[in-house]
Amino acid sequence: MKSVVIEQPGELVLAERPLPQPAAGEVRVKVQFASICGSDVHIWHGHNPFAKYPRVIGHEFFGLIDAVGDDVAASRIGERVAVDPVVSCGHCYPCSIGRPNVCKELQVIGVHRDGGFSEYAVAPAKNAFRLPNSIPDKLASMVEPFTIAANITAFLKPQPNDVALIYGAGPMGLTAIQVLKGVYGVEQVLVVDRLPERLALAQENGADRVFNNSEIPLAAQLEGVQPTLIIDAACHPAILAEAAALASPAARIGLLGFSGEPCSITQQSLTSKELSLFTSRLNSNRFPQVIEWMEQGQIQPEKLVTHYFPLAEVEQAMTLFEKDPRTCCKVILQMG
Ligand code: NAI
Ligand code: MN
Ligand code: ZN
Repeated sequence: MKSVVIEQPGELVLAERPLPQPAAGEVRVKVQFASICGSDVHIWHGHNPFAKYPRVIGHEFFGLIDAVGDDVAASRIGERVAVDPVVSCGHCYPCSIGRPNVCKELQVIGVHRDGGFSEYAVAPAKNAFRLPNSIPDKLASMVEPFTIAANITAFLKPQPNDVALIYGAGPMGLTAIQVLKGVYGVEQVLVVDRLPERLALAQENGADRVFNNSEIPLAAQLEGVQPTLIIDAACHPAILAEAAALASPAARIGLLGFSGEPCSITQQSLTSKELSLFTSRLNSNRFPQVIEWMEQGQIQPEKLVTHYFPLAEVEQAMTLFEKDPRTCCKVILQMG
């Protein structure tokens, strides 16, 4: 089978690899579509601290179960599935309280173990979620990115009367907009980015007001509006302090970033307004919820997708995705 292998940082090859056999409790998926994420690019360039090499990348993928290991019902062969990349031990403290995404032995498919930019991939059977026919093949790899928004909003508990502010209108900010509007019915969703093209996408994805902070700081444009719910999906370390300064008293702030740089913030700026700070990593069992949202039309994954490429053109696809955020949002690889 053909697989996209990062042999070592900087070295991406489309390699011929042996077909993997599913172990006990696993399924093999004949991958149909897989979407590119910033973290795939980071593994390619050696900027992901968790990655081990060589690695088949890809953690957002969809396909058909074509083989099962021991202890998995053969009737699952042929199922259309989206695969949750979070593989957890099931018994450590975070696993025991329903947060397998921060399992002490967390293994992320496509990061710690081989992933979905490949003609076939293996995964635990319980990670393979059957999809209703109403979710088309070419959008099915988009379940995973929406689980990030599902996870952070589960902490933030959005309400219709919230004034939400989202930093960043990349894939993460856009999925968050859609979930706030389409699932939680938040009446006011404000979005800030530095690229006008991304802000136009934010509007197409449901943002009520957009702000470009490339020249004028956001604070000067908000005219005193104090957001009650803020999501940092741009993830620059300076954003937290600005968010705390702009927030309404009693606001909630959600962070998604993984920067290793310190961010400077005072206790006073958080405590005087009694702000709540939540962080969110990947997703904790959110696939069923997102699949239901898609099925019911509460979210529209097609609004994020700008390009499709065949697997053979993976390097062009990843380069375009990385270099051209003005024309690119989600880029999807087609395997077949
Ligand atoms: P992206 O790079 O496509 O989007 C970021 C957007 O933020 C861009 O449109 C950029 O113009 C904008 N931006 C950058 N600095 C800004 C600033 N100071 N003010 C306003 N806008 C600014 O990235 P993507 O895929 O949307 O991911 C966003 C972040 O989320 C990344 O840092 C990524 O590491 C993180 N992430 C976290 C996950 C988690 O589970 N916690 C999962 C996936 C991504
Ligand atoms: Mn991703
Ligand atoms: Zn665990």
